Amino acid sequence: MTCDFEPPLPRSQISDIEETGIMKVFLHGVGRHDIIPFWAGEGDVPTPDFICQAVSQSLQAGETMYSHSRGIPEVRDALAAYMNRTFDLSLPEQRVSLTTSGMAAIVVAVQMAVGAGDEMLVLGPVWPNIYSTIEVAGGTVRHATLELGADGWQLDLDKLLAQVTAKTTAIFINSPGNPTGWVMTAEAQRRLLAFARQRGIWIIADEVYHNLVFDRKVAPSFLQIADPEDRLLVVNSFSKSWLMTGWRLGWLTHPASLADTVTKLIQVLTSCAPVFLQRGAIAALNHGDHVIADLRDRSRRGRDLVFDRLEAWPRVRGARPKGAFYAFFEVDGMTDSLATCHDIIDKCQVGLAPGMAFGPNGEGYLRLCFASQPETLQRGMDALELYLGGGTNQL
Ligand SMILES: Cc1ncc(COP(=O)(O)O)c(C=O)c1O
Repeated sequence: MTCDFEPPLPRSQISDIEETGIMKVFLHGVGRHDIIPFWAGEGDVPTPDFICQAVSQSLQAGETMYSHSRGIPEVRDALAAYMNRTFDLSLPEQRVSLTTSGMAAIVVAVQMAVGAGDEMLVLGPVWPNIYSTIEVAGGTVRHATLELGADGWQLDLDKLLAQVTAKTTAIFINSPGNPTGWVMTAEAQRRLLAFARQRGIWIIADEVYHNLVFDRKVAPSFLQIADPEDRLLVVNSFSKSWLMTGWRLGWLTHPASLADTVTKLIQVLTSCAPVFLQRGAIAALNHGDHVIADLRDRSRRGRDLVFDRLEAWPRVRGARPKGAFYAFFEVDGMTDSLATCHDIIDKCQVGLAPGMAFGPNGEGYLRLCFASQPETLQRGMDALELYLGGGTNQL
């Protein structure tokens, strides 16, 4: 007997959402053990043992129940203390909320700032998940773009501000930037904040790479110039700084007056983060500065190793980034970055992310994460050189 079922469809805003280009490439190569994975935002070093130990102890002690939606008091205190010593601030714990990933912090922030009919201005090229998050919330994305000049990626702030319309309720800025490594100056932050105040617009600042900068200790944060009750939501993550990508922990810094709202939004998202993971987070925050320092050193060496090779390849153009851990480079003659990434997986066994994933001006580029150890990077670059290193078009 055959049945003529219409396949069930979600509402149109959801069915219209496209898989990101990063996932498309990942799905092409997933399950193959011969791939050198430079496609995702992580290296090849696992979470340090002292962080894992804190989790084991918590599990042994039976900390397996529900907990506070914004995190147990100890993790909120540790978060506030970390933020205060890193940025020279004096935030109370009411301003920080633990979330189950930086991604979840973005979802909570967008839900607070954008609804049906609203527009959100997003500065790209940027990590693509923000685009779908806005669409799921019923909002519309407006695109602003950085430009690649002789001195690296640059922001024309006047052009960005000219993109704001009467419907714009929020501006999304990711600095240090994924994939470009662009770092926003404190001066540009000041101008943008003054504009946002005047227009009553939210700033959602994604600062998950704040301590991955190569020419100073920490990138300028909007929190250093903002008032406590500004419409400012700052997204952070445990993933990058402490090598905890699989843990799914992050945090949001927000006005204290929004703590109850954030509680409600986390309630309907995940209820809370597991307490045993929160113990690992506390260990990372309180005792993990050396992990950050090692990651920064490894990333700086990784950047130089990768760019020393890329700069010798005639068809490749890119700027050494000032922050984060990605090479985002243009390939002369490449018109389909997704097809190229598939081909590179098949022919070189290296996983890269396609530029088309990162917004309207990303096509023509490829992204490579250089957070891995030098041997892994060296092997990957040797394999890539056969494909991208020549003077002629091998695509
Ligand atoms: C710019 C940016 N924001 C947020 C995230 C989310 O981090 P996570 O969800 O792993 O905490 C990432 C991850 O790659 C990122 O690159």
